[in-house]
Amino acid sequence: MRQARILSAGMYLPERVVTNGDLEAIKELDTSDEWIQQRSGIRARRYVSNGESGTDMAVHASKQAVENAGLTMDDIEFIIYATLSPDYTFPGNGCFLQERLFGDRTIGAMDVRNQCSGFIYGLAAADSFIKTGLYDHILLVGTEVHSTGLDFTRNGRDVTVLFGDGAGAVVVGPAPEGHPGIMASALHSEGKHARELWLESPASAMNPRISHEALDQGRHYPMMNGRVVFKHAVTRMVEVSHEVLARARRKIAEVALFLPHQANMRINQMVASYLRIPEEKMVSTIQWTGNTTAATIPICMCEAIRQGKLKENDLVLLTAFGSGFTWASTLLAW
Ligand code: UT7
Repeated sequence: MRQARILSAGMYLPERVVTNGDLEAIKELDTSDEWIQQRSGIRARRYVSNGESGTDMAVHASKQAVENAGLTMDDIEFIIYATLSPDYTFPGNGCFLQERLFGDRTIGAMDVRNQCSGFIYGLAAADSFIKTGLYDHILLVGTEVHSTGLDFTRNGRDVTVLFGDGAGAVVVGPAPEGHPGIMASALHSEGKHARELWLESPASAMNPRISHEALDQGRHYPMMNGRVVFKHAVTRMVEVSHEVLARARRKIAEVALFLPHQANMRINQMVASYLRIPEEKMVSTIQWTGNTTAATIPICMCEAIRQGKLKENDLVLLTAFGSGFTWASTLLAW
């Protein structure tokens, strides 16, 4: 069976920069630059403005990824779109992206949830589709628009300061003969913790799906038990990284670059230290992006490329953890 590889990456961040100082200036939020930096490493994030949507951002990131692969949209045969913040409840953003980029070419579009792990779940699907010969070139996109759904009062400050908007995309295609490409993936979930980090309302489990009561209680904002999420994130990210290395029969010392999900700089520093990955082998973008959920890993990939840190055949470890709980890891040769 042929191997699949990531051929290229692209990213897009909205223009509006929101610094910790800007958040500090919102009196009802009751936060500070010092608290945010100390607890998360974040200094700024981007927010959409003027009605910009996830699909709008996906268009930019996808065009860049396809161009960087030396391909045209005509070469793309399938879309995989990961987001927890689709433009509308349904259909998913994949269809809107198909319209924007492919028009009359009615290629398939699959929407992936899986929150912070969505990009790696999508990558595992793309890998399988290419290995089995179903498609040759797949556009895998992760976008997130958090800023339109955050609670800018003290009640939501733990979550609100962490998140930002953004988009990342990669093109996945066949690896040349002898290139290991995507070597192994491991995907996990543990639904008993689903309510530790979730957005409850609107919900089809309720009738009506949204009520004045739910709005008054702020149940349309994300809720997080930060300490529980933090603890599980560190444990599971270490565990799944070891799992994927074992599957590929590789050692941690062989990893050239670690591109972790960007939820909190402190989580990633702890994970890297438990894995014995030196910090110079880890890429961080959270300082200027915040947590862009399904978009963090492709954005990190773009940053690694920009810094000249990704070389042909380098072993790259991707690891993510988030709401669900879900967590996942992929080991690949660049
Ligand atoms: O991508 C999905 C996964 N998400 C994550 O991985 C996030 C995981 N969790 C975390 O990153 C951390 O738990 C946080 C950064 C969210 C919070 O850090 P923490 O060190 O766990 O703080 P805490 O929740 O224990 O809160 C400590 C204090 C509390 O005040 P008291 O009770 O000690 O007086 C909070 O009310 O910090 C307060 N606090 C804030 N203060 C200023 C919480 N949020 C804020 C804020 N600004 N934004």
